[in-house]
Amino acid sequence: MKFFLDTAEISEIKALADTGLVDGVTTNPSLIAKSGRNILDVVCEICDLIPGPVSAEVAATDFETMLEEGRKLAALRPNVAVKVPLTPDGLRACKVLSDEGRLVNVTLCFSANQAILAAKAGAAFVSPFVGRLDDIGQDGMQLISDIVEIFAQYPDFTTDVLVASVRSPMHVTDAARLGAHVVTMPPAILRQMYNHPLTDKGLAAFIADWAKTGQSIL
Ligand code: E4P
Repeated sequence: MKFFLDTAEISEIKALADTGLVDGVTTNPSLIAKSGRNILDVVCEICDLIPGPVSAEVAATDFETMLEEGRKLAALRPNVAVKVPLTPDGLRACKVLSDEGRLVNVTLCFSANQAILAAKAGAAFVSPFVGRLDDIGQDGMQLISDIVEIFAQYPDFTTDVLVASVRSPMHVTDAARLGAHVVTMPPAILRQMYNHPLTDKGLAAFIADWAKTGQSIL
Protein backbone atom coordinates (compact mmCIF):
# COMPACT_ATOMS: atom_id res chain seq x y z
CA MET A 1 0.00 0.00 0.00
CA LYS A 2 1.35 3.40 -0.94
CA PHE A 3 1.04 6.61 1.08
CA PHE A 4 0.73 9.96 -0.68
CA LEU A 5 0.58 13.33 1.08
CA ASP A 6 -2.36 15.53 0.11
CA THR A 7 -0.79 18.97 0.40
CA ALA A 8 1.14 21.66 -1.45
CA GLU A 9 2.97 22.86 1.68
CA ILE A 10 6.69 22.35 1.04
CA SER A 11 7.64 22.52 4.73
CA GLU A 12 5.19 19.70 5.57
CA ILE A 13 6.41 17.56 2.67
CA LYS A 14 10.05 18.10 3.64
CA ALA A 15 9.35 17.17 7.27
CA LEU A 16 7.48 14.00 6.40
CA ALA A 17 9.78 12.94 3.53
CA ASP A 18 12.31 12.14 6.27
CA THR A 19 10.03 9.38 7.57
CA GLY A 20 10.80 7.39 4.42
CA LEU A 21 7.09 6.52 4.23
CA VAL A 22 5.93 9.04 1.63
CA ASP A 23 5.50 7.48 -1.82
CA GLY A 24 3.97 10.48 -3.61
CA VAL A 25 2.04 13.73 -3.29
CA THR A 26 -1.33 14.98 -4.51
CA THR A 27 -2.25 18.61 -5.01
CA ASN A 28 -5.39 20.28 -6.31
CA PRO A 29 -6.33 23.87 -7.20
CA SER A 30 -7.59 24.54 -3.67
CA LEU A 31 -4.34 23.30 -2.10
CA ILE A 32 -2.27 25.38 -4.56
CA ALA A 33 -4.39 28.45 -3.72
CA LYS A 34 -3.87 27.78 0.01
CA SER A 35 -0.09 27.59 -0.50
CA GLY A 36 -0.08 31.04 -2.13
CA ARG A 37 2.57 29.78 -4.58
CA ASN A 38 2.79 29.52 -8.36
CA ILE A 39 1.69 26.05 -9.43
CA LEU A 40 4.65 25.43 -11.75
CA ASP A 41 7.20 26.39 -9.07
CA VAL A 42 5.55 24.41 -6.32
CA VAL A 43 5.08 21.27 -8.43
CA CYS A 44 8.76 21.32 -9.46
CA GLU A 45 9.85 21.70 -5.84
CA ILE A 46 7.64 18.83 -4.69
CA CYS A 47 8.86 16.59 -7.53
CA ASP A 48 12.46 17.26 -6.51
CA LEU A 49 11.69 16.26 -2.90
CA ILE A 50 9.59 13.17 -3.56
CA PRO A 51 10.64 10.81 -6.37
CA GLY A 52 7.18 9.16 -6.59
CA PRO A 53 4.13 10.44 -8.47
CA VAL A 54 3.19 14.08 -7.81
CA SER A 55 -0.31 14.98 -8.97
CA ALA A 56 -0.76 18.43 -10.53
CA GLU A 57 -4.26 19.34 -11.65
CA VAL A 58 -5.27 21.06 -14.86
CA ALA A 59 -7.36 24.21 -14.44
CA ALA A 60 -9.22 24.09 -17.76
CA THR A 61 -12.45 22.19 -18.29
CA ASP A 62 -12.38 21.84 -22.09
CA PHE A 63 -10.54 18.99 -23.81
CA GLU A 64 -8.11 21.04 -25.93
CA THR A 65 -6.94 23.30 -23.11
CA MET A 66 -6.76 20.42 -20.62
CA LEU A 67 -4.51 18.61 -23.07
CA GLU A 68 -2.28 21.64 -23.48
CA GLU A 69 -2.09 22.25 -19.72
CA GLY A 70 -1.57 18.54 -19.04
CA ARG A 71 1.35 18.32 -21.46
CA LYS A 72 2.90 21.44 -19.92
CA LEU A 73 2.56 20.04 -16.38
CA ALA A 74 3.88 16.62 -17.44
CA ALA A 75 6.91 18.24 -19.07
CA LEU A 76 7.95 19.81 -15.74
CA ARG A 77 9.31 16.59 -14.25
CA PRO A 78 9.04 12.88 -15.19
CA ASN A 79 7.18 12.10 -11.95
CA VAL A 80 4.28 14.50 -12.56
CA ALA A 81 0.89 12.80 -12.70
CA VAL A 82 -1.55 15.02 -14.58
CA LYS A 83 -4.79 15.33 -12.66
CA VAL A 84 -7.95 15.72 -14.71
CA PRO A 85 -11.56 15.91 -13.52
CA LEU A 86 -13.95 13.05 -14.11
CA THR A 87 -15.90 14.67 -16.94
CA PRO A 88 -16.31 13.61 -20.58
CA ASP A 89 -13.61 16.10 -21.63
CA GLY A 90 -11.39 15.08 -18.71
CA LEU A 91 -11.60 11.40 -19.62
CA ARG A 92 -10.93 12.19 -23.27
CA ALA A 93 -7.82 14.09 -22.21
CA CYS A 94 -6.91 11.20 -19.89
CA LYS A 95 -6.99 8.74 -22.81
CA VAL A 96 -4.79 10.91 -25.03
CA LEU A 97 -2.29 11.75 -22.27
CA SER A 98 -2.15 8.11 -21.11
CA ASP A 99 -1.60 6.91 -24.69
CA GLU A 100 1.31 9.38 -24.85
CA GLY A 101 2.82 7.53 -21.88
CA ARG A 102 2.03 10.16 -19.24
CA LEU A 103 0.72 9.38 -15.76
CA VAL A 104 -2.85 10.56 -15.30
CA ASN A 105 -4.86 10.80 -12.07
CA VAL A 106 -8.61 11.10 -12.64
CA THR A 107 -10.04 13.09 -9.76
CA LEU A 108 -13.49 13.84 -8.32
CA CYS A 109 -14.70 10.25 -8.63
CA PHE A 110 -17.90 9.57 -6.70
CA SER A 111 -19.30 6.38 -8.27
CA ALA A 112 -18.17 2.92 -9.36
CA ASN A 113 -19.24 3.62 -12.94
CA GLN A 114 -17.08 6.75 -13.01
CA ALA A 115 -14.13 4.65 -11.81
CA ILE A 116 -14.74 2.09 -14.57
CA LEU A 117 -14.67 4.91 -17.14
CA ALA A 118 -11.36 6.18 -15.73
CA ALA A 119 -9.85 2.70 -15.94
CA LYS A 120 -11.02 2.29 -19.52
CA ALA A 121 -9.48 5.69 -20.33
CA GLY A 122 -6.11 4.31 -19.18
CA ALA A 123 -5.70 6.37 -16.00
CA ALA A 124 -2.75 5.46 -13.79
CA PHE A 125 -4.88 6.47 -10.78
CA VAL A 126 -8.54 7.10 -10.05
CA SER A 127 -9.33 9.19 -6.96
CA PRO A 128 -12.61 8.39 -5.19
CA PHE A 129 -13.29 11.06 -2.53
CA VAL A 130 -14.45 9.18 0.56
CA GLY A 131 -14.73 12.13 2.97
CA ARG A 132 -16.92 14.19 0.69
CA LEU A 133 -19.30 11.21 0.26
CA ASP A 134 -19.41 10.74 4.05
CA ASP A 135 -20.16 14.47 4.33
CA ILE A 136 -23.42 14.06 2.38
CA GLY A 137 -24.49 10.97 4.33
CA GLN A 138 -23.21 8.35 1.86
CA ASP A 139 -20.71 5.61 2.64
CA GLY A 140 -17.38 6.60 1.10
CA MET A 141 -15.69 3.33 2.03
CA GLN A 142 -18.44 1.29 0.36
CA LEU A 143 -17.42 3.00 -2.88
CA ILE A 144 -13.80 1.91 -2.34
CA SER A 145 -14.97 -1.64 -1.66
CA ASP A 146 -17.05 -1.63 -4.88
CA ILE A 147 -14.22 -0.26 -7.03
CA VAL A 148 -11.58 -2.63 -5.63
CA GLU A 149 -13.93 -5.58 -6.21
CA ILE A 150 -14.74 -4.51 -9.77
CA PHE A 151 -11.12 -3.80 -10.76
CA ALA A 152 -10.10 -7.25 -9.43
CA GLN A 153 -12.35 -8.83 -12.10
CA TYR A 154 -10.33 -7.22 -14.90
CA PRO A 155 -6.59 -7.92 -14.89
CA ASP A 156 -6.24 -5.65 -17.95
CA PHE A 157 -7.25 -2.64 -15.81
CA THR A 158 -3.97 -1.07 -14.73
CA THR A 159 -5.54 1.80 -12.76
CA ASP A 160 -4.65 2.14 -9.09
CA VAL A 161 -7.41 3.01 -6.63
CA LEU A 162 -6.19 6.18 -4.88
CA VAL A 163 -8.34 6.83 -1.82
CA ALA A 164 -8.75 10.60 -1.48
CA SER A 165 -10.56 13.10 0.73
CA VAL A 166 -9.27 11.22 3.76
CA ARG A 167 -10.40 12.72 7.06
CA SER A 168 -9.21 10.31 9.76
CA PRO A 169 -6.72 7.50 10.46
CA MET A 170 -9.70 5.09 10.38
CA HIS A 171 -10.13 5.90 6.70
CA VAL A 172 -6.57 4.63 6.20
CA THR A 173 -7.25 1.42 8.14
CA ASP A 174 -10.45 0.80 6.19
CA ALA A 175 -8.77 1.49 2.85
CA ALA A 176 -5.96 -0.92 3.72
CA ARG A 177 -8.45 -3.59 4.78
CA LEU A 178 -10.13 -3.30 1.38
CA GLY A 179 -6.86 -3.56 -0.52
CA ALA A 180 -6.82 -0.05 -2.01
CA HIS A 181 -3.52 0.62 -3.77
CA VAL A 182 -2.90 4.16 -2.48
CA VAL A 183 -4.19 6.50 0.21
CA THR A 184 -3.53 10.22 -0.06
CA MET A 185 -3.84 11.95 3.28
CA PRO A 186 -3.28 15.37 4.84
CA PRO A 187 0.03 15.48 6.78
CA ALA A 188 -1.84 15.59 10.11
CA ILE A 189 -3.41 12.19 9.43
CA LEU A 190 -0.03 10.55 8.75
CA ARG A 191 1.23 11.98 12.04
CA GLN A 192 -1.85 10.73 13.90
CA MET A 193 -1.22 7.20 12.60
CA TYR A 194 1.84 6.91 14.85
CA ASN A 195 -0.10 7.66 18.02
CA HIS A 196 -1.35 5.29 20.71
CA PRO A 197 -1.56 6.19 24.41
CA LEU A 198 -0.25 2.75 25.39
CA THR A 199 2.87 3.35 23.28
CA ASP A 200 3.51 6.60 25.17
CA LYS A 201 2.79 4.98 28.54
CA GLY A 202 4.93 1.93 27.79
CA LEU A 203 7.85 4.01 26.57
CA ALA A 204 7.74 6.23 29.68
CA ALA A 205 7.91 3.12 31.87
CA PHE A 206 10.82 1.64 29.87
CA ILE A 207 12.74 4.93 30.09
CA ALA A 208 12.19 5.14 33.86
CA ASP A 209 13.22 1.50 34.45
CA TRP A 210 16.26 1.82 32.20
CA ALA A 211 17.45 4.87 34.17
CA LYS A 212 17.42 2.72 37.33
CA THR A 213 19.93 0.29 35.78
CA GLY A 214 22.58 3.01 35.37
CA GLN A 215 23.63 1.26 32.14
CA SER A 216 24.56 2.72 28.75
CA ILE A 217 24.43 0.80 25.49
CA LEU A 218 26.89 3.07 23.69
C1 E4P B 1 -7.26 14.36 -3.74
O1 E4P B 1 -6.40 14.24 -4.59
C2 E4P B 1 -7.77 15.64 -3.26
O2 E4P B 1 -6.73 16.58 -3.33
C3 E4P B 1 -8.22 15.63 -1.83
O3 E4P B 1 -8.07 14.37 -1.22
C4 E4P B 1 -9.51 16.30 -1.56
O4 E4P B 1 -9.79 16.23 -0.18
P1 E4P B 1 -10.87 17.16 0.54
O5 E4P B 1 -12.22 16.58 0.28
O6 E4P B 1 -10.50 17.08 1.99
O7 E4P B 1 -10.71 18.53 -0.04
